[in-house]
Amino acid sequence: MQKIHVLFVCLGNICRSPTAHGVFQQLVDDSGLTDYFDIDSAGTSGWHIGKKPDSRTMVAAKKRGYDLSALRGRQVDVDDFEKYDYILAMDESNLKDLQVLQPSHYSGVLTLFLNYFPESSYNEVPDPYYGGDKGFDTVLDLVEAASQGLLTTIRNEKNL
Ligand code: 4NP
Repeated sequence: MQKIHVLFVCLGNICRSPTAHGVFQQLVDDSGLTDYFDIDSAGTSGWHIGKKPDSRTMVAAKKRGYDLSALRGRQVDVDDFEKYDYILAMDESNLKDLQVLQPSHYSGVLTLFLNYFPESSYNEVPDPYYGGDKGFDTVLDLVEAASQGLLTTIRNEKNL
């Protein structure tokens, strides 16, 4: 079976994109669609390669039932455009960096993740790294809603 490959991208790959990775994976699993998807996350920077998600990210996620402890940071690579059908950027800066890397023949979807949550007053997932605990809950709120929108869109597009 041809899987649907989904990649979430932020700056460090320790806060926002691992959250999206874990939340979307859980939603896919709960929907009985695990075998149809290959989900990953990456950072535009290489600052946290091999590292676990930020401890504040893991604590906030755990409170909502998401276990992110097995995830490890990695840097996005030009080869990711050969594999991933959907590449979702957390903010405009991530999107710009990805557009620079994007090969001209890329035929997948490269866009802001929050395009899948059009009712939101946010169009970017705010970087929580230098803020307080509330920022991590905001990330989860936005990511949970956008994950629902993304899965609905993909199910419609792929007749799943
Ligand atoms: P993320 O957050 O892009 O959501 O993973 C950040 C993580 C680390 C740093 C910045 C943002 N940093 O400067 O190390």
